[in-house]
Amino acid sequence: MSAIVSINNLHKSFGTNKVLNGVSLDVQKGQMVAIIGRSGSGKSTLLRCLNGLERIDSGDINVCGHDIHHPDKLNLRELRKQVGIVFQSYNLFPHVTVERNITLALTTIKKMATAEAKKIAHNVLTLVGLEAKKEAYPEQLSGGQAQRVAIARSLAMAPELMLFDEVTSALDPELTGEVLKVMEDLSKQGMTMVLVTHEMAFARKLADVLVFMHQGKVWEMGPPDELFTNPKTAELAKFVSSEL
Ligand SMILES: Nc1ncnc2c1ncn2[C@@H]1O[C@H](COP(=O)(O)OP(=O)(O)O)[C@@H](O)[C@H]1O
Ligand SMILES: [Mg+2]
Repeated sequence: MSAIVSINNLHKSFGTNKVLNGVSLDVQKGQMVAIIGRSGSGKSTLLRCLNGLERIDSGDINVCGHDIHHPDKLNLRELRKQVGIVFQSYNLFPHVTVERNITLALTTIKKMATAEAKKIAHNVLTLVGLEAKKEAYPEQLSGGQAQRVAIARSLAMAPELMLFDEVTSALDPELTGEVLKVMEDLSKQGMTMVLVTHEMAFARKLADVLVFMHQGKVWEMGPPDELFTNPKTAELAKFVSSEL
């Protein structure tokens, strides 16, 4: 196995607020790593550090061959082509079609010909089950469909790593399932992914590694079943019982 993400002793503060307090974590190619933990434990900040959205204070992070701790040498544009990130709010461009939402970055950032970009849009929309919606505008989509388009848009860039930050948290329960299904399919096709989630059943069933964050640290980490059935710390035990 080879590590796509390698984090060593990462520290990050906002002013006097120590948000990440010595995080070390590796993600191997093809793995699904799920991060759980209470609000404010640093989960989103950790994800944002992985694609250069936050400047780190100290520590080493290597993502897809890029050293994130050397901001001067870091090629952010290359990094972000290789690392897709999807958030809770899907931020589709409201004034263009679903298809154009997807082709936009391909024709501008990747300088791809329109025909080729459309082919990719077709492929990724098929993957998330929304090829029929390519002419639709974002406001005509349900929240679940919009989130699937956001995922498709990210996939169109052919990332090596996908980051998902609570992508189902804003969705009604009946729409959550369709988004989780897309993530499950992606994982089964071999995509490496790190996700922050409240979907405990999903994380337990599908994650290769479960990470419990607490106070800016990896408090516990291991096979999901083990963490759920046999938490070693009082903090995880409490968290697990509160999520049931
Ligand atoms: N851009 C920011 N500026 C200042 N403080 C921030 C910023 N982003 C996050 N924080 C703080 O960092 C802490 C961890 O936040 P976050 O990483 O969002 O946690 P989680 O995703 O686990 O809820 C919180 O105390 C939050 O207020
Ligand atoms: Mg968060």
